[in-house]
Amino acid sequence: MRGPVSEGDWRGVVRDVRVTGHRVTKRATHGRDKLLREVAWLKALPPKAVGYFPRVLEVRTGEGWAEYDMDFCPWPDMSRVLVDGTLTVDEAISGTRSLLGFAFDVLYADHHRPAPEDFFHVSYVDKFWRRASAGRGMSERFDRLCSAEQLDIHGRVYPSAASLMRELQRDTVLLARLRPPCLGRFHGDFKYDNVLFEPATGRFLLLDPRGSTVTGDSDSDYMEDLAKLRTCTRGLYDLVRAGAARVSEGEGRISWEWASWAGPALQRFSALDAWLVDELSVKARARRDADWRVRLDVLMPLLLLANAPFQLAPVNPRTEDIALVLHATGVRLLAEALELHGTRDLGVSP
Ligand SMILES: Nc1ncnc2c1ncn2[C@@H]1O[C@H](COP(=O)(O)OP(=O)(O)OP(=O)(O)O)[C@@H](O)[C@H]1O
Ligand SMILES: [Mg+2]
Repeated sequence: MRGPVSEGDWRGVVRDVRVTGHRVTKRATHGRDKLLREVAWLKALPPKAVGYFPRVLEVRTGEGWAEYDMDFCPWPDMSRVLVDGTLTVDEAISGTRSLLGFAFDVLYADHHRPAPEDFFHVSYVDKFWRRASAGRGMSERFDRLCSAEQLDIHGRVYPSAASLMRELQRDTVLLARLRPPCLGRFHGDFKYDNVLFEPATGRFLLLDPRGSTVTGDSDSDYMEDLAKLRTCTRGLYDLVRAGAARVSEGEGRISWEWASWAGPALQRFSALDAWLVDELSVKARARRDADWRVRLDVLMPLLLLANAPFQLAPVNPRTEDIALVLHATGVRLLAEALELHGTRDLGVSP
């Protein structure tokens, strides 16, 4: 079912998570409807999936707010242990293998609904433009980066995100390949900061499902989840969020260096990413999903670009650095994806 298109509640969203004894309470004020969709989604899970998500114990709502209680889970957040090195590469791979096994066998088992003709456009192209305009006016630094016609990233000049998107919209051959073969249940925010993981047993708990697409539809392309996961392994989302990128910028130019403490984590993410792509190739082929790689490569940067302005709540030099790096990474990876899979010349300068 499609609901109203909304950019949600992303600006000024007030959400909090409190732990009291063995209970965790997740509360939302501006994001009330989104939280209630999350609850509805959790309650409608098929029996096989139930143990992999928090159990909703109680829901309370009032005017302008909603909250729900769940059991406290003592396992560490996978993003944190990947960044700080508590988790080895082997443990991270084995955890991700279990996560994907569950996702493919249970969560994505119902992917049978044909995708509407305009699915890619409505879900990702329109969202890109809405987010681009909603993100304007919050931070001068971010605005400057987004409005530059071309972007020099680490010495290489790329078209702006908007130009890349226009190029993508003109590439009808590529757009046809981006339409997913079918739709079904998906998590919606499938990244490591939403996974609690116990390395000793390999058990995990998946938090924070979106439960629906930007259009309010409960079904999407399973590749959206996997592209989200790859914003971590290839887009280095968790490392950037942890403040590991030291930014230097100028007019239409950005570069960054990684803090020295981030070196081992960069290696871990790189190994994990190489493994992930191999694993996805096996799993997607088993589903006879011929164009999986095209969708993965294009969706991942689109998700980074859509997420970047989210980081600006609240605006400060640290959150600005995070938003800038995520945006620039999105530009670079989108340009690379279009060069690889697009049928038109982009003109990226060496
Ligand atoms: N049941 C739980 N047990 C232990 N820790 C939890 C639990 N639920 C949430 N947390 C902790 O709180 C953090 C935030 O929770 P969650 O991801 O659900 O919300 P959020 O990311 O703030 O929400 P949103 O992305 O919708 O703004 C998690 O990363 C995790 O560390
Ligand atoms: Mg979360």
